Amino acid sequence: MGLMDGKKGLIVGIANERSYAYFIAESLLREGAQCLFTHLPGEKMERRVRKACESLGAEDPWLRPLDASSDEQLDAVFDAVKSDVGELDFIVHSIAFADKDWLKEGLFLSTPREVFTQACDISAYTFAAMADRAAPLMSEGGSMIAISYYGAEKAAPGYNVMGVAKSALESTTRYLASDLGPKNIRCNAISGGPFRTMSAMAVGGFGQIMDVVAERAPMRRNVEGREVGDAAVFLLSDLSTGVTGQVLYVDCGFSSIVM
Ligand SMILES: NC(=O)c1ccc[n+]([C@@H]2O[C@H](COP(=O)([O-])OP(=O)(O)OC[C@H]3O[C@@H](n4cnc5c(N)ncnc54)[C@H](O)[C@@H]3O)[C@@H](O)[C@H]2O)c1
Repeated sequence: MGLMDGKKGLIVGIANERSYAYFIAESLLREGAQCLFTHLPGEKMERRVRKACESLGAEDPWLRPLDASSDEQLDAVFDAVKSDVGELDFIVHSIAFADKDWLKEGLFLSTPREVFTQACDISAYTFAAMADRAAPLMSEGGSMIAISYYGAEKAAPGYNVMGVAKSALESTTRYLASDLGPKNIRCNAISGGPFRTMSAMAVGGFGQIMDVVAERAPMRRNVEGREVGDAAVFLLSDLSTGVTGQVLYVDCGFSSIVM
């Protein structure tokens, strides 16, 4: 018996075998979930994500192109979900983007307007855009998660506009929880510790952030992908039916200390 037996969901955010979404999918599949996937448009991205999904044991995975900054592509993906599988039990939003030229320490002050709005659009608004399309497919209730980082609350070196976008994402989670709670749809975020992925490497101060966590976090180490994956199972399964509008820290305790 798996914790996710009989549950179907859409996972957005696998780029490769290092992505947080990959580990979330691995934990969900292990617990019996049926997972649908998307990839950034383009043949190369499709090949890379298909390979990652297949390595998870998802043979002939349900995989559709999605640039989440496009309303048309969001509509197309959720229309396809509706016609191919009907109802959904969960969605995973594990995407973020900011122009890496502006993710360097000392540059936040001069962030151009279009860099700021694009980061907030792709990294925060898209959670609401996905939730709005997923909710009508959750007539029996459901659970939605997004992935945040502590830079939403405190200034982290080089995280810059991404920190602003993560604050917006966490607030978006609470307002979605408020709107969708009466429909028995829960929305939560996981605040994951620093983890070496393609997106993370774009942050100027990333190496320094990882070093400080390993040295000072209560558990004296950085988080593993599997730990975020297993926390996602908790939030997406019936183990957490009373939990919504929350940010769950999976960061080896780093956010709980002062020094
Ligand atoms: N790695 C870390 O240290 C860390 C820590 C905390 C939170 N997070 C968050 O975890 C989530 C996943 O990031 P990751 O670290 O696994 O990196 P990743 O690079 O593996 O994943 C980021 C994903 O975002 C997708 N994406 C970017 N723009 C998109 C768009 N317009 N439409 C659709 N998809 C788009 C990419 O295709 C990729 O799959 C992000 O929200 C990130 O901010 C990461």
